[in-house]
Amino acid sequence: MLQQIRPTSSISGAITLPGDKSISHRYAMLAAIAEGVTKIENYSSGADCQSTLACVRALGAGVERLDGVTSIEGRGLDGLRESSETLDAGNSGSTIRMLSGILAAQSFTTRIGGDESLSRRPMDRIMIPLRQMGACIEASEGRFPPLTIRGAKLQPIEYTLPVASAQVKSSVLLAGLFAPGRTTVHEPVRTRDHTELALREFGAEVEVEKRSISVIGLPHLQGRELVVPGDLSSAAFFLVAALIVRESALTIHGVGLNPTRSALLDFLAEMGAAIKILDVKSTGGELIGDVLVRKSPVRGGILEKARTAALIDEIPVLAVLGAVSEEGLVVRDASELRVKETDRIATIAENFRRMGVAMDVREDGFAVPGRQSFRAAELDSFGDHRIAMAFSVAALVADGPCILDNAESASVSFREFFDTLQRVAG
Ligand code: S3P
Repeated sequence: MLQQIRPTSSISGAITLPGDKSISHRYAMLAAIAEGVTKIENYSSGADCQSTLACVRALGAGVERLDGVTSIEGRGLDGLRESSETLDAGNSGSTIRMLSGILAAQSFTTRIGGDESLSRRPMDRIMIPLRQMGACIEASEGRFPPLTIRGAKLQPIEYTLPVASAQVKSSVLLAGLFAPGRTTVHEPVRTRDHTELALREFGAEVEVEKRSISVIGLPHLQGRELVVPGDLSSAAFFLVAALIVRESALTIHGVGLNPTRSALLDFLAEMGAAIKILDVKSTGGELIGDVLVRKSPVRGGILEKARTAALIDEIPVLAVLGAVSEEGLVVRDASELRVKETDRIATIAENFRRMGVAMDVREDGFAVPGRQSFRAAELDSFGDHRIAMAFSVAALVADGPCILDNAESASVSFREFFDTLQRVAG
């Protein structure tokens, strides 16, 4: 789909966002292996989270959607059944990596794959620890989807993550639910802790000591009622849009503010962004609040080490902000960007090139000088949702209308993105 995006003079009003993608996946997977019904409000409407729902349905969980509430009837720890078809994780790395932890422990074999982009993403990062637990997993060329997972009796392990990855941590912790005893994951840097919080909500015993997380196997998980906060990573596109478009003032209601995700707000505030947070509450162990943002000059800055890991999904739109900032943006320690839905260093660089924006590319990062202006251009998402949305934001401040090719990929995490953008652009 080709989408035209016109420059705009303000981003204003009040919006709410679809449910957090990371939290939605976790609630759906845990609901499927819990006893009884889980009712989830504001479950993400993005295609990725719909892939997770389709997978758990194919494994025997009851899935229904009524009046905006997603109900999942769980089958208990040993109640899933074999799917006659290959499970389709679509574009979703979270679905295939985290669900594999559950599939590894079943009494049946499952094949799980996904689209072309997912089929190029490395799965050895979950295969290594799951095999240590006793799992039998085969992959294309030894490391790519589709995966064939022969269920086995799992043993608890203690595992140190070689890469900072919440998906890998979660895959091991979910597998640990099926292993008798204590499974522990040590993280090099703290990654998002939605799995730990969700496990507790469903009744599992989880211990967290600094960067070591343990789960005790064979718990009784109980279905429950949950509300998914708005997705802060989706909010990022609107925050940056409001920061860079003149005369902007935007309120985003009900955004997830989990401290392991909110490094974005700290980074923006440090750079001088006018952001206020109001009305913070807690739901299901997750923080949620309203975020107010006004157009403001931002200084720019450096992202490296743990901070790069904490902001990894927001880097495409931060690159756009960097190019209009006063001092530019330097990103280091970001080799993970190369193995996301696209090689994001390459796809950011290519769209900047088309807009006449300079960027210095490195193997594990990049540098974008500040005070640049954006030329109208034909842009491309290359099938990557965050590239689609980041460059839609860039197009708002271009010197003429832009065309975005493969714009439909935004719906992987944010089905209502272009409608929401149209509503606030004035
Ligand atoms: C996610 C973790 C991150 C992130 C992805 C969602 C999650 O991936 O980039 O969008 O929900 O756990 P990694 O675990 O590969 O860092």
